[in-house]
Amino acid sequence: MPSRRSFLASIAALPLLPRSGWTAAPVQLALAPLQQQIAPAQYGKTDLWGVNSSMPGPALQARQGDRLKVQVNNGLPQETSMHWHGIRIENAMDGVPGLTQDPIAPGAEFTYDFALPDAGTYWYHSHAQSVEQVERGIQGPLIVAEQDAPDVDQDLVLMLDDIRLTQDAAVDPVFDHPHDMSHAGRMGNVMLTNGQIEARYPVQQGDRLRLRLINSANARIFALGLQGLTGWIMAYDGMPLTAPEEIPDQLLLAPAQRIDLIVDVTADAGEDAFLVQFERDGGYAQASFPVSAGTKSTRNMPAPLPPNPDHAITLGNARSATLRMEGGAMGGMRAAEWQGETQGMRSLAQAGQFWALNGVVGRPDAPLVRASIGETVKLTMINDTAFPHAMHLHGMHFAEVLPGGRLGPLRDTLLMMRGETRTVAFNAHNPGKWLLHCHMLSHHAAGMGTWVEVTA
Ligand code: C2O
Ligand code: CU
Repeated sequence: MPSRRSFLASIAALPLLPRSGWTAAPVQLALAPLQQQIAPAQYGKTDLWGVNSSMPGPALQARQGDRLKVQVNNGLPQETSMHWHGIRIENAMDGVPGLTQDPIAPGAEFTYDFALPDAGTYWYHSHAQSVEQVERGIQGPLIVAEQDAPDVDQDLVLMLDDIRLTQDAAVDPVFDHPHDMSHAGRMGNVMLTNGQIEARYPVQQGDRLRLRLINSANARIFALGLQGLTGWIMAYDGMPLTAPEEIPDQLLLAPAQRIDLIVDVTADAGEDAFLVQFERDGGYAQASFPVSAGTKSTRNMPAPLPPNPDHAITLGNARSATLRMEGGAMGGMRAAEWQGETQGMRSLAQAGQFWALNGVVGRPDAPLVRASIGETVKLTMINDTAFPHAMHLHGMHFAEVLPGGRLGPLRDTLLMMRGETRTVAFNAHNPGKWLLHCHMLSHHAAGMGTWVEVTA
């Protein structure tokens, strides 16, 4: 296995914060500039933004049914907000400036206080100027433990990111490059796992690991595989599968998506097992697991994770909506409505706007669909562009409607390849104003966002 790493970084797992919910005092998240070694040693440290002096931020740990109370202190030079990605949260705590809250000014703070109805792997990230803020490091895992968690030897969070560094290891400061906005988004040139280019997690042969993969990259779709590890997919985007699935040779993880795996270490002692990241020219070690001798014998397939609360999807009397995605380079869009006026591609491009949803650039005044609580919404998305998009709905999980009306697994982010048409459905159980947008962050900034409203 080729390795692009020229040195071995010290082993450092993510710092863990104690569980909240036991005490009334909020967890403190301090957002501030920091310096951290992420490039190879010969380059020195990189100026980043982080949470509690770390990029990514600490893994917030809670238990299903807890309330999480988090005070976000904005020490950044820009307005910010925090979004709790995938949590079926109270609307006022969703962290979307201009829709659910005012932005948090530099020097100000905001306390988020919300229930955690679901167990699973979630994450938090800035939802203000996110192309820049998430890239610089305002992101971290949010892990909600099951009341009855599966028995594993290690539970590892692997936050996968790519960052675009200049020759002298600074974060490339151009966040509104028209090429990024109109093509595949801002791709990085340095791959990180938990903020490290050389992430290593010692294991024993026969160990059973829970791997919580989170894609926090701005735009990269990670193509992943395993070497020396075999096991099962247990959950997508936090939501347990009713039956564990075999892991295919290649797993695609789009921006903001998560996958929970349970794997057993099958590599021999003295070898390394790998999480492999595939590129055109082959596989690279995204994370390594040095294996020492162990005494455990092979185990059977794990039981499924305990289900989260169910909000039944009933297609029979669903409210339907259609979302046509247009624009971008090579997309053929000629004009779209922006700020109440029809504008041609050239003037949109001059304004840094490149994408439209149903002919409208940016978040429209009226929601794409208005549903009443408990209604099923059926949403057909048409990717009439030349690029893939990771479409994310806030506040509720959806299931894909498969041929024959079967429902796929629950997810909060769906990867739509170019030219694809796919239909999802969700129970509109959560009242409020919920964003629906592309999680390629430059695409969202360049027009790919709308919203849905659920009313009492
Ligand atoms: Cu990860 Cu609008 O969110
Ligand atoms: Cu997109």
